[in-house]
Amino acid sequence: MVEAQSPINLWGKRLVLGVTGSIAAYKAVGLLRSLVCEGATVSVAMTQAATKFVTPLTFEVLSGRRVATDLFESREEMAHLALPGQAHAVIVAPATANFLAKAAIGLADDLLSTMLLNARCPVIVAPAMDGDMWAHPTVMQHVQLLRARGVVVLDPEVGPLASGQVAQGRLPTELSILDAVQKALISQLDWRGQRVLVSAGPTQEPIDPVRFISNRSSGKMGYAIAEAARDRGAEVILVTGPSSLTPPSGVTAVSVNTASEMSDALSRHFPSSTVLIMAAAVADFRPKVSAGQKLKKQGKSELVIELEATPDILATLSLRRTSQIVVGFAAETEHVLSHAKDKLRGKGLDLIIANDVSRADGGFGSDDNAVVILSATGEQKVLELMPKRRLADEILTTVRELCLVSPRRESLVE
Ligand SMILES: Cc1cc2nc3c(=O)[nH]c(=O)nc-3n(C[C@H](O)[C@H](O)[C@H](O)COP(=O)(O)O)c2cc1C
Repeated sequence: MVEAQSPINLWGKRLVLGVTGSIAAYKAVGLLRSLVCEGATVSVAMTQAATKFVTPLTFEVLSGRRVATDLFESREEMAHLALPGQAHAVIVAPATANFLAKAAIGLADDLLSTMLLNARCPVIVAPAMDGDMWAHPTVMQHVQLLRARGVVVLDPEVGPLASGQVAQGRLPTELSILDAVQKALISQLDWRGQRVLVSAGPTQEPIDPVRFISNRSSGKMGYAIAEAARDRGAEVILVTGPSSLTPPSGVTAVSVNTASEMSDALSRHFPSSTVLIMAAAVADFRPKVSAGQKLKKQGKSELVIELEATPDILATLSLRRTSQIVVGFAAETEHVLSHAKDKLRGKGLDLIIANDVSRADGGFGSDDNAVVILSATGEQKVLELMPKRRLADEILTTVRELCLVSPRRESLVE
């Protein structure tokens, strides 16, 4: 367990703990316990060799999640893609000499090594092996290769080893592994200091007290952006239309129903925000009159509802901005890029995320999406189909690179 004074806080973090076939595998049980106690959600992946030392059941009970051991075990989602894709960090402890070799050359012949190739988050490796193995030039070379690639490979401790030897090879202490995890996670807080206003979901425009006009937006993309911004250190306000999703914890959620309510809520929070990401699918039109009582059929063969345009929230806020970055979404079913470019220019946005909602494999309601990001300064970035949570991170990275780190705002004011 971690000492009480440890500053680590893993609340809301998703981690993968890889366990390989070292005699020190039993120490991974204590590490898992500490990670869970500090608030992390931990998915454990074990090599076949690791299961000879500690049973998956132990990790399963302590993590409260199924332990992944087999690349080919049939699952709804493929663990070698899904787990590292959603993780904030991957920790491999203990890491065998065999694992270091495979990771160094990119071998992917089992679940854990394949996962590693899919990880785009920090990877922390805590080796444990006999002293002669650790000192072997091949092992040293592999360690150097991994470090050069940005993997955090901790130095094993010096001390008595299972072989009876006293040498460098003991698994780094739990505290030093937790410290490394914390450092890696802090370096990801690249949105710290930003106050991000995100809109999500559809709006509902009442026809009468029981009926409304709405759209198919689920809110998944906006919620994923809010969660990603929170995870990267931003203060987040999520203005959400009706959605079955639960707002991410640690995010200030404001629930609205209509376009007009959404406009009011966003206008209230916009002045104190640094970035607006408008992922909501706001109705363009609403019934001109909303009946006070439920409309009755009473022999009518048709009903004409007159619609009027809703306020253009994005254009209005974009005009009112002082220094805010304004990012819009363009959900289109045809001529996606040209419509998105028109919207980008017409509303004076910094970035627009063009979203082909006619695709069967992405768009509204789906867990995945593919988009093209267009900037006011002419950059274009294609993001292929991926889970919305991962896409959210890619979007935030692009917004940061193009607008926050090296802002080129002058061409926006034309
Ligand atoms: C009792 C025992 C203890 C072992 N301890 C270690 C160890 O601490 N470090 C290591 O690199 N290999 C150790 N090995 C060898 C690994 O288990 C072996 O290289 C295995 O292929 C590793 O597979 P993996 O990397 O897929 O988990 C040990 C083997 C045995 C039988």
